[in-house]
Amino acid sequence: MSNQFLVAIIGAGPAGLFAARELATRGAHVTLFNRDIKVGGLAEYGIYLDKHTMKEGLRKQFRQALEQPNLEYYGNLLIGADGDLTLDQVRALGFDAVLVTAGAQGTKWLGLPGEDLEGVYHAKDVVYAYNKLPPFSQKKFRFGKRCALIGAGNVMIDLARFLIYYQQVDEITAIVRRGPNEVSFTKEEMKHLIAYLDLNNFEEELARVLPILQTIEQDPELGRHKVLEALSKAEPKTQPTVFRFDFLASPTAMLGENGKLTKLEVEDNTLILKDGELKARGTGNKRTLDVETVIFAIGDKVDETFGLPTERNEFVKNPNPKFAEEGVSYETTIEGVFVGGWSRKASEGLVGVARKDGINAAKAVWQYLQTKPASGVDPAKIAAQIQALNKPIVTKAELKKLESVEAEEAQKRGLEEFKFASNEEMLQALGL
Ligand SMILES: Cc1cc2nc3c(=O)[nH]c(=O)nc-3n(C[C@H](O)[C@H](O)[C@H](O)COP(=O)(O)OP(=O)(O)OC[C@H]3O[C@@H](n4cnc5c(N)ncnc54)[C@H](O)[C@@H]3O)c2cc1C
Ligand SMILES: NC(=O)c1ccc[n+]([C@@H]2O[C@H](COP(=O)([O-])OP(=O)(O)OC[C@H]3O[C@@H](n4cnc5c(N)ncnc54)[C@H](OP(=O)(O)O)[C@@H]3O)[C@@H](O)[C@H]2O)c1
Repeated sequence: MSNQFLVAIIGAGPAGLFAARELATRGAHVTLFNRDIKVGGLAEYGIYLDKHTMKEGLRKQFRQALEQPNLEYYGNLLIGADGDLTLDQVRALGFDAVLVTAGAQGTKWLGLPGEDLEGVYHAKDVVYAYNKLPPFSQKKFRFGKRCALIGAGNVMIDLARFLIYYQQVDEITAIVRRGPNEVSFTKEEMKHLIAYLDLNNFEEELARVLPILQTIEQDPELGRHKVLEALSKAEPKTQPTVFRFDFLASPTAMLGENGKLTKLEVEDNTLILKDGELKARGTGNKRTLDVETVIFAIGDKVDETFGLPTERNEFVKNPNPKFAEEGVSYETTIEGVFVGGWSRKASEGLVGVARKDGINAAKAVWQYLQTKPASGVDPAKIAAQIQALNKPIVTKAELKKLESVEAEEAQKRGLEEFKFASNEEMLQALGL
């Protein structure tokens, strides 16, 4: 009977991969389950298209993590109530602990009229599609000439760039529920977009919202600086697209004709300070914008069908953790089941944050393991049960093969990179 601890990690994005490396290095036997065929999560299928060096650097680190001999990988396997295995079935295989690092796969719809119209999308779906993640890459999208993006984070910037360079749209309006001082994109990202900003319109917007900023004694210069500081590093404008901000406005309805989006209705907001937080409040004044596409870039929530209790867009954490790391609870309310990365805190931070969170989650799991004897189940028995599932499963060896097939294809086509856009093509290339 083995005294090696067996840990299941669900989700092979940055949080799961770095957690897997941490636990395997400490001597646990790690089984890594992943919905996608390939590893990387949003580092592979979220990060913007032209960041080749960053993506390649991360892939290198992911490959190194997978090289641990006591780490097994099962890609193309969805865990959850509607999955290939439920969370309970995974636990019943005999693992000593389960760490969920499945990201934030739920969609944060606001429940507004017209969300089902053609032309209304959520950022994650569009981003997954342009980064060629099946099945999103096989869906049809309708990008019109006039587009509205809801939100003012870095994801909004990525989408604006995609609409400018890959869809050649005429106009993009970012609908921002609070003011210019509250935008959350960074200068480093805004530099890619700032040359498209209609500066006259921006000044008019600042003047329009000024009376509201003054009611809360906000300095409008801070907002102007936050948006315009990227001007000094602006990338050149090469397309005719015009980008504008619409501050202090929230979407209230999408209107359409024959099932297709034609207008976005927004409500003007004012700002109020409540419990130390600056909140947007509707004024009742509504107006419409003529647009053919609306994309919500307002962050994501965890998958409510996963099999863990959820509350306010997140999996419920144990408020009194026994195995906290840096004061943070990685424990769910189920003994032996932990969460990390965007599965712990949806849509928070860069890859580096997910990496640190994955490692800390692994440390919390390790603390927990020290309090109990190992289950003694033979990992080979678990592996045999997984391989017996009626599903083509991608292992570490097959991942390597897929990488070399795609690299060869890129070379043949003279491309920086090549990705198969469907699971069928990937599985066929692997002979599965
Ligand atoms: C559009 C966008 C662009 C970004 N650009 C950058 C950037 O330029 N630089 C930067 O540093 N950060 C960027 N980020 C942030 C970064 O991608 C995240 O911080 C990080 O990927 C989160 O890691 P994670 O492992 O928690 O989740 P994810 O990366 O989402 O990984 C989740 C993994 O879990 C798997 N999974 C999901 N559900 C299941 C299930 N039910 N069963 C089994 N497996 C499952 C998925 O297949 C995936 O592999 C970006 C984020 C977005 C949304
Ligand atoms: N290139 C990069 O480095 C890069 C690229 C993409 C993503 N990321 C990272 O990934 C994480 C997620 O990015 P993100 O852009 O999704 O998140 P974000 O920075 O939190 O931005 C979300 C935006 O949506 C708005 N919003 C939220 N709920 C809303 C609602 N109900 N109605 C209207 N507006 C709403 C927010 O406004 P409020 O401020 O008012 O809440 C905010 O402007 C961030 O850490 C980001 O830095 C990084």
